[in-house]
Amino acid sequence: MKKTLLLAVAVLLVAMPSEARKKPKFTHETVAVPAVEREIISVETASTSLNLLVTEKGELQTLHYGAKIEDPGAWLQLDGSSEDYNGCRSLTYPATGGRFISEPALHVKYPDGSHNTELYFTGVKKSAQDGFERTEIGLKDYVTGLEVKLLYDAYVKEDVIEMHSEILNGGKKAVELLNYASASLYVDAPEYLLTHFYGAWAKEMLMESEVLGHDTKVIESRRGVQATQGNNPSFLLSLGTKELRENDGEVIAGALEWSGNFRMSFEKDDAHRLNIITGISPYASAYPLEAGATFVTPGMVYTYSAEGAGGASRNLHRWARKYCVYGGGAVNPTLLNSWEGAYFNFTTPVLLGMIDDAASMGLEMFVLDDGWFGNDFPRNGDNAGLGDWEVNTSKLPEGIEYLASYAHSKGLKFGIWIEPEMVNPASNLAHEHPEWVVQSPGREIYQGRNQWVLDLSNPAVEDFVFGIFDRTMQLAPGIDYIKWDCNRVIQSFGSPYLGTQQDRFYVEYVEGLYNVMRRIREKYPRVIVQCCSSGGGRVDYGALRYCNEVWTSDNTDARTRAFIQYSMNLIYPACVMASHVSTVPNHQTSNVTPLKFRFDMACSGRLGMELQPKYFSPEDRALADRCITSYKKYRDLVFAGDAYRLASPYDGSYYGVMYVSEDKSRAVVFTYCLEFEPRTVGSKAFRLIGLDPSRSYKVMEQNVDRSCWWGSGKVFSGSFLAEGGFNPVLPQIYSSAVFVLEAQ
Ligand code: DGJ
Repeated sequence: MKKTLLLAVAVLLVAMPSEARKKPKFTHETVAVPAVEREIISVETASTSLNLLVTEKGELQTLHYGAKIEDPGAWLQLDGSSEDYNGCRSLTYPATGGRFISEPALHVKYPDGSHNTELYFTGVKKSAQDGFERTEIGLKDYVTGLEVKLLYDAYVKEDVIEMHSEILNGGKKAVELLNYASASLYVDAPEYLLTHFYGAWAKEMLMESEVLGHDTKVIESRRGVQATQGNNPSFLLSLGTKELRENDGEVIAGALEWSGNFRMSFEKDDAHRLNIITGISPYASAYPLEAGATFVTPGMVYTYSAEGAGGASRNLHRWARKYCVYGGGAVNPTLLNSWEGAYFNFTTPVLLGMIDDAASMGLEMFVLDDGWFGNDFPRNGDNAGLGDWEVNTSKLPEGIEYLASYAHSKGLKFGIWIEPEMVNPASNLAHEHPEWVVQSPGREIYQGRNQWVLDLSNPAVEDFVFGIFDRTMQLAPGIDYIKWDCNRVIQSFGSPYLGTQQDRFYVEYVEGLYNVMRRIREKYPRVIVQCCSSGGGRVDYGALRYCNEVWTSDNTDARTRAFIQYSMNLIYPACVMASHVSTVPNHQTSNVTPLKFRFDMACSGRLGMELQPKYFSPEDRALADRCITSYKKYRDLVFAGDAYRLASPYDGSYYGVMYVSEDKSRAVVFTYCLEFEPRTVGSKAFRLIGLDPSRSYKVMEQNVDRSCWWGSGKVFSGSFLAEGGFNPVLPQIYSSAVFVLEAQ
């Protein structure tokens, strides 16, 4: 039957005149792109240039990022044919579509189901802003009307360029943003060594380096909150080498200002160029953009240095202290935190005793950590009370005001802990506002540390979270410090508030958090805020715009801290790095280190203590007093000096770091031994680069009666200290020494 039918159709076709068999003529109209002039756009800092080319076709390409090129216009002599490599040579903000087939910075799905975007140059504008020079480049897709603005803010003196993009839906219907990177940066070098940071609870920011091959390497966080407990949104890229070099060689450092899911991809193409695309992770976040709406991506900061990792991090630190970290560079007080000394088990008299001890040791603040709230569901462990932020009347019948004014009367500032984004199922809040909990219909709401996450994509929750901070500040006059904690990730995400728009959740959560923080800073510009997330789970330059410091890690073991603090300092300045002396055996690692080693380690950041001081022996107590007193004399260098790393704990037995004042008249040097090292007196373990070679410095060891270096108390030139050998005798594991240097 079928056979007969086919035969009949074939006979019919043969019988038809050839005209009728002709296919309809193929027609395809293209939208014209206005012609533009070839031009070079150069974004410049004191020692670096980013050179972009606008091609005849109107494509924007990246030609160079690195050391300064004095005549960027020379690029115009480039042979035009090399601009058309595969049709997409080094596009500055590559979009899915057109001839571009590599990793995109932008991927948009349009209402007709299409995925193509081709961005063409519309114009460039330069302006001087407060502290930086802005270059604003317009791009447009002429088929859909979608527009992108690329913004490059050049911090000239610091050699930092902060980049971000703004995506405007110029069409008539909503589109979906499938990728919406902050920035894309092409670099060109014979070799790329990527150094990035991974971790987990109590071992954050550990450094890992790898030579990049011809594939795509991705660093990502999908944790929602506590986003940096694993990977950190930052990296170093060493060019033309397989080695991370501290003092020489070309290094680019980058960091994203975002406290949620992020993605950084490094794609090495067939011409060996590397395209770095960085921004919010699009994971489960196809972001809907209404007609006429603009999506503003977070900032991505870049710096380049020919002075190795040291140069790159000093650039970033200077920028961070001046333009990013809240109160950056100002000294934050030394403190005693109640957590490891008391955990949840305290009453007013216990805390008063700690306040007395803190005051008599010369510390400057007492911080009451977790456990002070909840009555119907008292916070006596981590299984109850979060959400119910009223003072626990059985532990603290006299209230917070009593404690704060007692601390103030002893000359101490007073700080307190909150975890406002979270709720325990065992709380009144969970019963009163179940709709505020992050959840997905019909699915289990998984607990982490016995708690749920509040849905900060909901403006009502934003108000509630702001209210917690606000009310905590009212618990006593003169609350000086808030430790803001956040102790779990988001799982099985979902927002009852967002309904069918769940794609917005991860982005709006972070926006909600930032809205709250903005309100806090408007109302409380002076309160010191520590950003904590089970330790270093929220260490990023987005959060640091609102916070003065971070709780670097719950790991207070001074040995582990050497690794964490070393690599943290590659990206973040020491002024944000809270570092506490705790008891031994250490509560996280069981390691036992001498008290001096613990102090010397903590003093290279913002010094604090986190133990019950009443258990100190008189000798320990005397050492503590001495270390705190000397720290106060040199700590301005820790908070605002330039960091020079002298030895890496990842490379051998020693760790060393020094901070030098901007005018190079003073410095503090920290040296530590992590493994037994019976080296000879002649070896140059620590070269004190960073000093002025032609000036003379007096070297003074701190906290000891007898110095471990033969030159202590003597005067040496900066060049001798860098080249001749500065070699304190530190053979024993956990021996350490701190020196202050003063120009004569
Ligand atoms: C985790 C933090 O990192 C600790 O310092 C402490 O504040 C606890 N949370 C309290 O629950």
